[in-house]
Order: sequence, then structure tokens, then C-alpha cells
Amino acid sequence: MKLFIAIFLAVSFLTYGADTRNVDKENSELYLDLLKKCLLNTIYEDQNIMPGFPPEFNAENRDNGYDWPAYAHTMIGKKRMDNLHYCIKQLLINKVPGDFIETGVWRGGATIFMRGALKAYGDNERNVWVADSFEGLPVPDAKKYPADSGWDFHLYPQLAVSLEQVQANFSKYGLLDDRVIFLKGFFSRTLSTARIKKISLLRLDGDLYESTMDALINLYPKVSIGGYIIIDDYCVPPCKAAVEDYRSSFKIKDPIQEIDGMGVFWKKTK
Ligand SMILES: C[S@@+](CC[C@H](N)C(=O)[O-])C[C@H]1O[C@@H](n2cnc3c(N)ncnc32)[C@H](O)[C@@H]1O
Repeated sequence: MKLFIAIFLAVSFLTYGADTRNVDKENSELYLDLLKKCLLNTIYEDQNIMPGFPPEFNAENRDNGYDWPAYAHTMIGKKRMDNLHYCIKQLLINKVPGDFIETGVWRGGATIFMRGALKAYGDNERNVWVADSFEGLPVPDAKKYPADSGWDFHLYPQLAVSLEQVQANFSKYGLLDDRVIFLKGFFSRTLSTARIKKISLLRLDGDLYESTMDALINLYPKVSIGGYIIIDDYCVPPCKAAVEDYRSSFKIKDPIQEIDGMGVFWKKTK
């Protein structure tokens, strides 16, 4: 009888533990799914503000990150957001050491997602680095970087979002804490001296050759083996040129994987 009760209690305890773990797991995924919907604002469906394109909300464009949303906290679109989520999960499952960073954050949405995912999955060690001028893109330096000639993103005030605004956006989600570190200034000045020891997730979203190359030169060597490099703007010619130049200079052969016809990523293997 005693043996029967002991077995009964042990089985109940183990089943309860498993149930709780499943619920926690499901809740994390539900939270992150809702977080994405809020960051992308597919809930209230705000208009596009990219000049020269129709302002009406278009679900397909938001999915592909083709528009500049009027209010949403990210412009990367659902598919690249899902790719970010995939990379984060792989890094945590495989215990690849290192912080997460995005260079070029705009309203902060992709980095807000990084912090939310770390919280949801119970990681209390990694930092999220948020690097931006918080004043928009630099004026192209066509002499030093001929590939940037004519790419006048600096003329768009829509792309300049202040540090205070991005911090306020983190706060709205309850995700502004000491695990989030802001690097304010142009990458040419901030990245070489940033006190980042190790990176597992390097997400580049600075559009220009200069912005992409500054990030690769200063940060790629800090990426752990097994870490991911995501290039949001591979479809933008100056960005693609910087990636190709860097990869060929350092003989990087890790295969480039497509995300959505705009962004790409690869896993660092050596
Ligand atoms: C396309 S937006 C980034 C979109 C963002 N990742 C998101 O989740 O929506 C480009 C951002 O890169 C920043 N940026 C581009 N080049 C930069 C540079 N060289 N130094 C600092 N910030 C830069 C701009 O200020 C802008 O916020």
C-alpha cells in the first residue's frame, strides 16, 4: 500500500512539473508572438510614411518590411522579425556565449524584441546593445566610400529618432533595464571603443556601405563561433557591397542564407 502511495505521489509530482514547464513554454511563445504584433503594429495597422509610396496599410508590405510605418516601433517586417526570433532561440538552445547587438535601431523595435525574448526565456546574463546616432544616417562620404554616393538617407527626418524616444519605447513594454545599453553616436566613433566583450547575435541595419563596414570591422571579430550575423539591408547595393568586401577580405565562406528577399544571415563557424 505504502509503495503504491509513493509511486502515485511521484507520478503526480512529475506530471505536474511537466505540465507547468509546458505552460511556461507556451506562455513565452504567446508573449513573444504578441510582442511582435505590437512592435510591428499589425494590430492597429498604421499607415506607410515612406515617401513616394501609397500611405494605406498593406499587410503584405508589413510582412515583408517594405514600408516605413507611421507608428510601429520597427520597420523590419514580420519575416525578418521571425528570423530574429529563430536566431535567438538557436543561440539559447546551443548556449552560444555573448551579448546581442543591433547597429541601426530607428525606434528600437528589433532590440526591444531581443530584450523581451531574453526575459521570456529566462536569460539574466546577456546584454542588449542598442547602437545608433539617434539623429539619422550620416551624410555619405563618397570620397572614402564611393558605394555610398547618392544614397541620401540623411535627408529623411523620418529616419532620425532620438535616444529619449527609443528609451521611452523600451519603457512602454516594461523592458528598459540595466541589461539594455545604449551606444549613442555615429558607428565610426562609438563601436571601436564600446566595452562589448563577446557577441552571439550581431544584427546590422545601417543601410550604407560605411555603416555596414564600421559595424563589421569593429564587431565581427567579437562574434562567438556559432553566433549569427544578420544583415537587414542586403538588398541595398552599398550595404551588400560592404558585406561582400568584408567577407572576401577575411575569407569568410559561411553560406549566406536568404530571409525574405531583402535580408540575409549566416552562422559563424570559424
Ligand atoms: C533602417 S533604420 C533601422 C531600422 C530598425 N532596425 C528597426 O527595427 O526598425 C536605420 C538606422 O540606422 C541608423 N544609422 C545608420 N547609419 C548609422 C551610422 N553610421 N551611425 C549611427 N547610426 C546609423 C539611423 O540613425 C537609423 O536609425
